[in-house]
Amino acid sequence: MDFKKNDIVRVLIEDMGHEGEGVGKVEGYTVFIKDAIIGDLAEAVIMKIHKNYAYAKLKKVVTPSSFRVEPKCIFHKECGGCRLQAMQYEKQLEYKQNKIRNNLIRIGGFSPQTADMVLEPIVGMPKDTEEGVFRYRNKAQYPVGKDKEGRLITGFYAGRTHSIIANTDCYLGAEENQEILETVLKYMVNNGVSAYDEKDGTGLIRHILIRTGFTSGEIMVCLVINGRGLPRQQALVDALKGMKGITGILININQQRSNVIMGKEIKTIWGKDIIRDTIHMRDSARDFVLTGRSFTFAISPLSFYQVNPLQTEKVYSIALEFAGLTKKDVVWDIYCGIGTISLFMAEQAGQVYGIETVPEAVEDARKNAFINVIENVEFFQGKAEEILPEKYEKEGIAADVIVVDPPRKGCDEACLETMVKMKPDRIVYISCDSATLSRDLKILCDRGYELQRVRGADQFPHTTHVETVVLLEKKAQ
Ligand SMILES: C[S@@+](CC[C@H](N)C(=O)[O-])C[C@H]1O[C@@H](n2cnc3c(N)ncnc32)[C@H](O)[C@@H]1O
Repeated sequence: MDFKKNDIVRVLIEDMGHEGEGVGKVEGYTVFIKDAIIGDLAEAVIMKIHKNYAYAKLKKVVTPSSFRVEPKCIFHKECGGCRLQAMQYEKQLEYKQNKIRNNLIRIGGFSPQTADMVLEPIVGMPKDTEEGVFRYRNKAQYPVGKDKEGRLITGFYAGRTHSIIANTDCYLGAEENQEILETVLKYMVNNGVSAYDEKDGTGLIRHILIRTGFTSGEIMVCLVINGRGLPRQQALVDALKGMKGITGILININQQRSNVIMGKEIKTIWGKDIIRDTIHMRDSARDFVLTGRSFTFAISPLSFYQVNPLQTEKVYSIALEFAGLTKKDVVWDIYCGIGTISLFMAEQAGQVYGIETVPEAVEDARKNAFINVIENVEFFQGKAEEILPEKYEKEGIAADVIVVDPPRKGCDEACLETMVKMKPDRIVYISCDSATLSRDLKILCDRGYELQRVRGADQFPHTTHVETVVLLEKKAQ
């Protein structure tokens, strides 16, 4: 190679990498350039050279791509979240569709022909404003700290760091969050309340968690603290409780020196300890028109709940269509959270069993079955990789359909192994990481299952993430 560190190169960006970086060739070498997008002619400084590829820093866009748009957020380059914000929404969707396809081929080992046969068009968000798709998140966790002058700030971590970009109005979150965050900062300043400093483990307020029920309008504010209580707590309650939508103010105690945001203990200092939200079922065969019934869910602070409710309805609808349930079917909903998918399935199945590791989520799930009057569902608390084998080996449980919706790291091997032994007719796999999904699909397809349908849904516009729903069927013997 004829270039070295600090050389300036011109690169035509021909592709996009997994982290949303632009990819082009210089003298036959692949160069990755953050903030460059497909179609750009970019000028960049070489930063790091490996054997077959190099990383470069964008210096300027010489000729902008026709897919470029004006980003709404001035922090989009520094912040780790919205790596695709400078690209047209339709192109973002194409990027995500390709990401799923590439992972199926590269990691899953499926042929390009199979990938093209099973992959259905990605489901994007309705683009109903000129600015595009924003304000879709119902949950945000803002770290609290100090700027260089020692002023209290809150916002987001800059990409790959723990330095906070002061920003109380992230455009992915609810508009109301800004006033809430500024009120909390004001309470801290007025009452001499310190921010947590992760370098030495001192200071009190670590994060501010805000969760909104988009259909109920209910808002929960939870301060994660490095202590057992708040000084002049009533001052905070008085400042927040009158604000529109706020139905609960809580503290979460986290005195651990780790990057884990939430501790295990929660105290409600005002109002309710849950918020509610309603999810409607949509008919995916009729382009996602509202159909069927809706369910209302109680959500407590430690429980997982999908962050983009409009797209969640679509993801669940696809999952339900793929599951093809009858009233005779026994369904296992593994990694079930607060029982959202379980309840939709229970309406169409004979019996549903859910497994979830977080005790509070299981409590929510049982409550949710009760308030929605669903009786053919039972939830087990514990790790899927322990509960499922135990139930299978000791109780000989069966499954006609298994739904799995694991965290980003995918399914545990013991869980996959038991799923295969249970021989369900169909497995519906929902995933927020198409790389670990593809890894697990390979295992399942090596053990008697066949990939039938794959459909992406964009739950996270402007980010590089994509939700994927997959249908696997048991191969004929
Ligand atoms: C992506 S969420 C899906 C939750 C639910 N299906 C939904 O749509 O809201 C994954 C869930 O798996 C749970 N979880 C993580 N590891 C687990 C494990 N080893 N066993 C069981 N549940 C687990 C998490 O607490 C979380 O609720």
